[in-house]
Amino acid sequence: MSQPFRMVAFFFCLLLSAQWSVAQEGVHPQSSTYEWPDDSLVRRKLDQWQDLKFGMIIHWGLYAVPGIIESWSICSENWIERDSTIAYDDYKKWYWGLKKDFNPIRFDPEQWAAACKGAGMKYLVFTTKHHDGFCMFDTRQTDFSIAKGPFAGNPKADVARWVFDAFRKQGFMIGAYFSKPDWHSEYYWWPKYATPDRNYNYDIRKYTWRWQQFKQYTYNQLSELMHNYGQVDILWLDGGWVRPGNSVTAEVLSWGAPIPPAGQDIEMPRIARMAREAQPGLLMVDRTVHGPYENYQTPEQHVPAGQLDHPWESCMTLANNWGFVPNDRYKSTRKVIHTLIEIVAKGGSLLLGVGPKPDGTLPTEAVERLAEIGKWMNQNGAAIYGTRPVKDYKQDSLFFTQHKTNGHRYAILCIPEKGFVPATIHWKNNFPKAGSRMTLLQTGKTVKWSRKEDNIEVELPAGLLNSERPPALAFEFVATEQP
Ligand code: GLC
Repeated sequence: MSQPFRMVAFFFCLLLSAQWSVAQEGVHPQSSTYEWPDDSLVRRKLDQWQDLKFGMIIHWGLYAVPGIIESWSICSENWIERDSTIAYDDYKKWYWGLKKDFNPIRFDPEQWAAACKGAGMKYLVFTTKHHDGFCMFDTRQTDFSIAKGPFAGNPKADVARWVFDAFRKQGFMIGAYFSKPDWHSEYYWWPKYATPDRNYNYDIRKYTWRWQQFKQYTYNQLSELMHNYGQVDILWLDGGWVRPGNSVTAEVLSWGAPIPPAGQDIEMPRIARMAREAQPGLLMVDRTVHGPYENYQTPEQHVPAGQLDHPWESCMTLANNWGFVPNDRYKSTRKVIHTLIEIVAKGGSLLLGVGPKPDGTLPTEAVERLAEIGKWMNQNGAAIYGTRPVKDYKQDSLFFTQHKTNGHRYAILCIPEKGFVPATIHWKNNFPKAGSRMTLLQTGKTVKWSRKEDNIEVELPAGLLNSERPPALAFEFVATEQP
């Protein structure tokens, strides 16, 4: 590490420890990393988005053809596994050549949208372009796209359009995933030089024309997406290392890749102006780049330890990978439902990731899980959608939420795979109003409850004890105090 880098790293460690001590102070840690948007249309959409709670992120691209990790295998960082019998350059050639084999003749976005709607999902994020630069929309900026290969003659060749239309028809908010880095573009990875890591591979201070071209290329593609694909609600920008040099944080350093001294500024204010002119109120999610273009935050593959004081979403895979990988291990329906409940009680949303197969269909395991999740959401959605967090949001395996306007409070009991449904459940705080009704959402029937001093006791209907163990039970009541 050079001296200036060491100083930068030291500074960020200091910053991190300062944030940590702030985070220790209360249930609602103050965030120094979030900026509420000024634009009232953006704030309104943000509030609407916060009602939705459950979305789908679809990773679909060239990597689905061989069924390997999304994009990363063509990056030469040392944590990445690759077939060691093939030289790196040959491997990249092979990878780029996969475009000849990507012909998803069974692509049926209506079926995807129906499966996601059935699961109770309300918004979609779709990979229009991942780090490998392969476009899942008919861009005029390159031929490296699904619309130019063997699928070109297919009426649905402009894949993103069909995906967005199908989900929009089911009432979803529409999000475009777009990778800022582009490893196929000669303006980012110039073939003149080796590509040792995820960053651009030339000196952008020396080759200013080339970097300018990259910025314009990115701008043009985003302009196509913002102008030609109907209403888009969320622009979900991945590849957080592409950011101005002065916005590098401890998190960025923790990714372990070198930080180019010249930064990687692609002029987000200019992009945002164009995007919001075309899509008023657009939510910009410039992931990990804290500031005006990160309208909500996106912890990845984990649930934050507690409630956060700003809008957020955990993105998590249903299996182990973002894209389709044969024989992947899928999480259980119960696990997904418990995760969703915990996230919602902490004030966030769950964006669940599934990767379609190269023929265009969703993996059977995913379809099955989505249907099972839907069964629970159908009966218990009132405890999830349109809710906002309450102060005492957790007690053992019980979580609490409250509807943002009608005042209904919910207690949600997560039931483990093994073990038994208790005959009575107990909690402190979140007291129901004296003499008020409490309903079990699953049956719509009233349940008996009582209060002894600070302890609430709820009797579960006898039938439940013998029935199949549901993933969770939700109770609706009116609470004595506000959240
Ligand atoms: C990570 C992965 C990236 C993936 C994204 C989804 O950033 O590196 O490949 O698209 O997560 O959240």
